[in-house]
Amino acid sequence: MEKKKVLFVCLGNICRSPSAEAVFTGIVQKEGLAEKFEIDSAGTSGWHAGEPADKRMQEHAIKRGYNLTSISRKFNPEKDFNRFDMIIGMDNQNVETLKSMTRNGKDLAKIYKMTDFAKEWNYDEVPDPYYGGEEGFELVLDLLEDSCNGLLEKLK
Ligand code: 4NP
Repeated sequence: MEKKKVLFVCLGNICRSPSAEAVFTGIVQKEGLAEKFEIDSAGTSGWHAGEPADKRMQEHAIKRGYNLTSISRKFNPEKDFNRFDMIIGMDNQNVETLKSMTRNGKDLAKIYKMTDFAKEWNYDEVPDPYYGGEEGFELVLDLLEDSCNGLLEKLK
């Protein structure tokens, strides 16, 4: 079977999307499905390109067993729309920015929003935790665990 290629996208690629990458990777590994997926993340901005994930996000994630190892990079429309099957934005702004970069209907059909896969949490988006407090980072992880479980269920 062809690998399903999934790209998670947020604004800075240092908080939400690297966490989504780690949470989804953890879930597929636990289910013994790691070989069936290629999983990556990117930011619509290049503001933090080359940097590791935000220290606060890393600290909250590690407490739940997720090691955030990815290095921030900017979304590359040409390469990423060609390579990935699903491109999943964290909030409405990410989704709008992604849509503005599409070249055709095929690109557009690859764009999703993370919370569309949620089963238990009824949020319209994964809120940006960058300028907020501790609880924002916990909320990100709660929403991502729920949504990533829903995403895998949909793909199985
Ligand atoms: P992320 O969070 O999009 O979840 O990585 C942010 C990171 C950095 C900034 C904003 C959001 N920033 O303004 O630098």
